[in-house]
Amino acid sequence: MKSGFTVWFTGLSCAGKSTIAQAVARMLRERGLQVEVLDGDVVRENLSRGLGFSKADRDENIRRIAFVSKLLTRNGVATLVAAISPYRAAREAARREIGRFVEVYVHCPIEVCMGRDTKGLYRRAVAGEISAFTGISDPYEPPPSPELTLHTDKESPEQSAALVMSRLRELGVLPG
Ligand code: ADX
Repeated sequence: MKSGFTVWFTGLSCAGKSTIAQAVARMLRERGLQVEVLDGDVVRENLSRGLGFSKADRDENIRRIAFVSKLLTRNGVATLVAAISPYRAAREAARREIGRFVEVYVHCPIEVCMGRDTKGLYRRAVAGEISAFTGISDPYEPPPSPELTLHTDKESPEQSAALVMSRLRELGVLPG
């Protein structure tokens, strides 16, 4: 039986989406699942190359990611998406299209994200060198009812990943 699912990590830049997705990917592979990670930064270098950060381009980016996630999910792959995906409507459209969909809100106060600033983009956004930066000069719409909310200012990535795994078991999406 094909029993794929998509775990969709949404949250601000530097909230920890990619790190947690990679940790969950390891845990799922250890259980013998086929896993793919669709990471915003990577997707934007190939599948979404050339797209920018206007609302229309972000919606198109998310539409493409959701389309690929649907194909993977229906073929039994545990699909992990790590993208800011700031717009509620775009995430809801992804949920409808994909079906077996678990939304994980990777919450982290913006001050903490700005302190991490692993790519130096917050600094540049605050300096006005990057426009329409999520959380600074562009909106982020938090999910009103995600399946799980993580607090990465208080949890280690391993703890957050373990919370995802136990929620997946609770929801009955993990086979076996
Ligand atoms: S999304 O909004 O379309 O979901 P996505 O997750 O693919 O965004 O890409 C976000 C990444 O692009 C960030 O981690 C950051 O490295 C980079 N980036 C560059 N410009 C921006 C911007 N204006 N807003 C947010 N992220 C940006």
